[in-house]
Amino acid sequence: MTTRRILVTSALPYANGSIHLGHLVEYIQTDIWVRFQKMRGHEIYYVCADDTHGTPIMLRAEKEGITPEALIARVHDEHYEDFTGFHIHFDNYYSTHSDETRHYSEDIYHKLKVAGLIRVRAIEQLYDPQKNMFLPDRFVKGECPKCSAKDQYGDSCEVCGAAYAPTELKNPYSAVSGATPVKKSSEHYFFSLSDQRCVDFLRRWTRAGHLQPEAANKMHEWLGDAGENKLSDWDISRDAPYFGFEIPDAPGKYFYVWLDAPIGYMGSFKHLCARENLDFDTYWRKDTETELYHFIGKDILYFHALFWPAMLEHSGYRTPTRIFAHGFLTVNGEKMSKSRGTFITAASYLKQGLNPEWLRYYYAAKLNGTMEDIDLNLDDFIVRVNSDLVGKFINIASRCAGFITKRFNGKLVDGDSYQTMQQLINERFANWRPGALEKAYEDRDYSQAVRQIMKFSDEANEIIHELAPWEIAKNTDRNAELQRVCSLGIQLFYLLARYLKPILPETIRQVEGFLNCQPLTWPRLVENEPVSQLLLPPGHVINAYQHLMTRIDSKLIDALVEANKQNLSADQAGAAKTNANSQQKTIAPIAETISIDDFSKIDLRVARIVNAEHVEGANKLLKLTLDIGSGQRTVFAGIKSAYSPEQLKGRLTVMVANLAPRKMKFGLSEGMVLAAGSGGSELFILSPDSGAQPGMRIK
Ligand code: MSP
Ligand code: ZN
Repeated sequence: MTTRRILVTSALPYANGSIHLGHLVEYIQTDIWVRFQKMRGHEIYYVCADDTHGTPIMLRAEKEGITPEALIARVHDEHYEDFTGFHIHFDNYYSTHSDETRHYSEDIYHKLKVAGLIRVRAIEQLYDPQKNMFLPDRFVKGECPKCSAKDQYGDSCEVCGAAYAPTELKNPYSAVSGATPVKKSSEHYFFSLSDQRCVDFLRRWTRAGHLQPEAANKMHEWLGDAGENKLSDWDISRDAPYFGFEIPDAPGKYFYVWLDAPIGYMGSFKHLCARENLDFDTYWRKDTETELYHFIGKDILYFHALFWPAMLEHSGYRTPTRIFAHGFLTVNGEKMSKSRGTFITAASYLKQGLNPEWLRYYYAAKLNGTMEDIDLNLDDFIVRVNSDLVGKFINIASRCAGFITKRFNGKLVDGDSYQTMQQLINERFANWRPGALEKAYEDRDYSQAVRQIMKFSDEANEIIHELAPWEIAKNTDRNAELQRVCSLGIQLFYLLARYLKPILPETIRQVEGFLNCQPLTWPRLVENEPVSQLLLPPGHVINAYQHLMTRIDSKLIDALVEANKQNLSADQAGAAKTNANSQQKTIAPIAETISIDDFSKIDLRVARIVNAEHVEGANKLLKLTLDIGSGQRTVFAGIKSAYSPEQLKGRLTVMVANLAPRKMKFGLSEGMVLAAGSGGSELFILSPDSGAQPGMRIK
């Protein structure tokens, strides 16, 4: 068998949200495939990155009062930790906000331009006159033009399902500022997908075996029949303000996030090349024999099966070998739901102490390489994992290992006994050869692989049950037989462990420790070579059995669902409380988010009130003399209704020291002291803890 060179990607998750169990369908699916190919001895790299650009990320950072760079750095760490927690192993996990991705974005753009496939034309879009920005469809809201439902997004109505342009909404408003958007024209850059070269290429490419049959059919619907041209040019630019890469020859214009997102695959791989000394061009040049696979969800097929190959083809790069699209996750037969607690984050799953390999196994048992949706039924999840993994697979080892350790110092049979055992395996377990499993893994039909492996596990348990080592053990004369039967069990367990390794990398790592063997690889058996070729050698010594996997307790699942509900109900409870309060007394909502930079503009100082006095003719004000270390300030404070001068003299408080001085009827006020409360006798000035000194900065 020749060694294949393979580059694999999963879709790049957006850098403004947490990884949830829906995402994990894809990353687990890909990771299993990559691990299988690695075990086979192929040269394979798995790269991914965060998808960091675009308006939502820009606005989210603004809302949090941090820079987009700070936001994407934080989310990158969170995502990486979640993936690692589920044993998803990337050879590189990078970011699209990188020099490499910028380089290839500019390069591809430039080549498309030279090829005459970039056109510029003015388009009219909704513009937020308050925020001074063009609004993406999702950031315009208003009433549905069809059914008049309120608060619908600019692209489609969630009530009646109608699709429309944002300009068609009735009473539109900006979801960013609330302002009424205006129509404004600006120049946009387009990739000419409707150019005959692109149309011809895509018509060919989408039929050439790169797509699953159901995906190819979808693409043909989009492409239309020969002679028809249903493709529109693709708008690849966005106007400032935008978080992304500025287009080199177009100041103020940025590449649309979906232009640089797939180029992020190249960027991440390029970064890996530098680290591992690999040759980038070997994988990306047009005539390469290396393989390139993109694992994606069916929702982003359009980008990967049309735009992306067309971009690559016309900028002189290779196109993907295959696009592997999967379906969407439902939980208990329904869309994941925050109120039902089934919108489960990766982090909460791990935090509740659930074993990530339970989920890996369950997804594997459900995935079949098609675009069908897959359902995580939580009751079935418990049953499947407990009965298959613990009850069938782990059980084989736990029934046989004890005798080997206690009676034979961990030694498996050798000599004639070994041969007898080998023969038995070849006769009775001839069907355990790896070929069928190999095909199932290669085709991403993991459910088929799992079915096979569980059938094998049943067969192993049957023979152990038949030979009943626990009965043999009662008679010390039958020691040799006991060793042979238990060795058989351990050898069968060893065979199965290999087959499960792509799915359960951590458990099998522990199994390798217990069996005292080399890390398992995927056998390259030649035709008709018996399965016994794959056994542990005669007289091999194993380590004492250690507990390998616990059963799922249904209480854990209840707690998980509850935890994911609680997130939401805490918010909802908060909202309800605010409402209740606001009926009694108006509590101002929390003000607009500011950045730490905004905050640090305010110079707050500890001040000692060295003098306080009434002001002639003023019925609300007291005149305060404040010592702020470096000197004294006079401040007129409206606190007379709550404090007498005597109560104030000598005490410490907090003042805004860099407020512009204000000329008042009674003199110049050089700052402000801070107080809480609604006024009248309900006024409370602040005081620092004891030890604070006048002039200390508050930050
Ligand atoms: N950023 C884009 C992908 C750019 S690739 C050049 C994106 N990000 S995403 O975070 O929304 O989704 C990442 C992947 O997870 C996508 O392939 C998407 O289909 C998949 N899934 C997200 N939710 C999912 C489910 N509920 N179920 C299964 N897969 C899901 O799209
Ligand atoms: Zn509607």
